[in-house]
Formats: sequence, structure tokens, C-alpha cells
Amino acid sequence: MRLDKYLADMGAGTRSEIRKSIRKNGAMVGEQMIFDPGVLLDGFPEVIYQGETWQYEPVVWYMMNKPSGVLSASEDRKQRTVLDLIAERKRTDLFPVGRLDKDTEGLLLITNDGEAAHRLLAPKFHVDKTYLVRTGVNAFTEENAASFAEGIRYDKTLTALPAKMRIAPFGDPREALVTIREGKFHQIKKMVAALGGGREVSYLRRVSFGPLSLDSTLAPGEYRRLTGKEIEALLACVQGGAKDKREDLNGRRN
Ligand code: URA
Repeated sequence: MRLDKYLADMGAGTRSEIRKSIRKNGAMVGEQMIFDPGVLLDGFPEVIYQGETWQYEPVVWYMMNKPSGVLSASEDRKQRTVLDLIAERKRTDLFPVGRLDKDTEGLLLITNDGEAAHRLLAPKFHVDKTYLVRTGVNAFTEENAASFAEGIRYDKTLTALPAKMRIAPFGDPREALVTIREGKFHQIKKMVAALGGGREVSYLRRVSFGPLSLDSTLAPGEYRRLTGKEIEALLACVQGGAKDKREDLNGRRN
């Protein structure tokens, strides 16, 4: 990889700023002072540039507890995005893995690994996502859980894959843990509305994504790097072929 790309990817500046600065002031690569920004590096050596030490990481993963009021996007001209919340020095090619609505909180993965993100979101890999859902007034019922388990029709043309609903996980029947394997636009909100009885989502938080649970030490807006074990577990669920499509969330084959 070229030295200027290495530094630009890591967020040290724009390619042209970096080129200019290296030509003028140089950068230290290993023991050598380099003045050619186009020099090809051998692997990912440590680089000292403008007095700071840079170490390239090909792939990075963060878990964020997304707060309400922030967009799940890489950039937006007007509104704050989840990437604006990452305060540390960061790679320039990060993006959120899928989207949570602006008013949804909870577990959001952020990475620069396009291939893995694509697989994690691909319907054929059936990665489970669990949400804590609260409705305004009417409690959830076992009948509602049965409708979700069947696969509820929630739009003129859309029927959800079978989903799991656990009512009152903390004692309040207006709350439920709902696990889905899809991620269509406003899916949980539409599924809850389709239950009828005036049910509407008043609060939504994603509490797990595949094998990962939201770290309870992260306040809304906080984030941390995934550990090596967490990355391994995440990638393991989308390695190889897709899961057997005929097995639904309730363990039944159809
Ligand atoms: N379903 C929704 O309706 N909204 C989200 O943000 C995520 C799932």
C-alpha cells in the first residue's frame, strides 16, 4: 500500500494534504525518513507523521449503543450521524452495519469490513436481531406472540418471516423481546402496528445482533471496539453457506 493512502485511510488528512506534508517534512517509516508519499510500504509498519504515531489496521469493528435522535448513516449535511459520535482518531471508511431508525436506540455495529457487513445483513444468513419493544397502551398477548410466530402480514405485500416474541421480560406486559431475522424498513414498528388494537411502538431498543448482546456498560452514545472473540463469533455466523432456510426461529422446519 502507498504511504499516502495508508495515512489517509487512517484519518490523518486528505491525500493531497498528506502528499504535500510528506514532500515537505517527511514521515518516519521504521528507521527511515521518507519524502516520497507514493512509496510502497511492506505490510503495515508503524509510521510517524506530523509527530504522531500511526498504526494501520485493515479492519475495525465497534459496538455502539446508538442514542435516539442520531442518524444511522456515515455522513449527513444537516444531522448528526453515529460516526460523528466516534470521537477518537478513526478510519475514514467506516459505516454502520444496517440502519436503526433515528428514534431507535441500542446495538449498532460499525465497521469498514464491507464483505462481512453485507453478509450480516443478507437475508439468507438469517442473523437474529432482538429488540426490546414497548407499546403505548395495550399490552401484548399470547395471541400476538402466535401471530409473530406464524409470520405476520404487515404491509400490503410484505409478510414477516416467523419471529419470536417474549412478553413482559421485565414484568410489564406492554413490553416484549422480539427476535427477527430480517431488517426491512420500520419492520418492528410495522409488525407491531399490524397486531391491531391500536398498538404502536413507543420505544425500541436493539439488544442483540447475532451472537452479540448490547454491552450494558455502554450508555446511549457510547461505543467500544469489539474484542477479537466477539469479531470471531460474529464472522462465524456468516461463514460458509447460508443457514437452512427451512428452519424458522422457533426451531420448526417448514
Ligand atoms: N424495526 C424498526 O421498526 N425500526 C428499527 O429501527 C429497527 C427495526
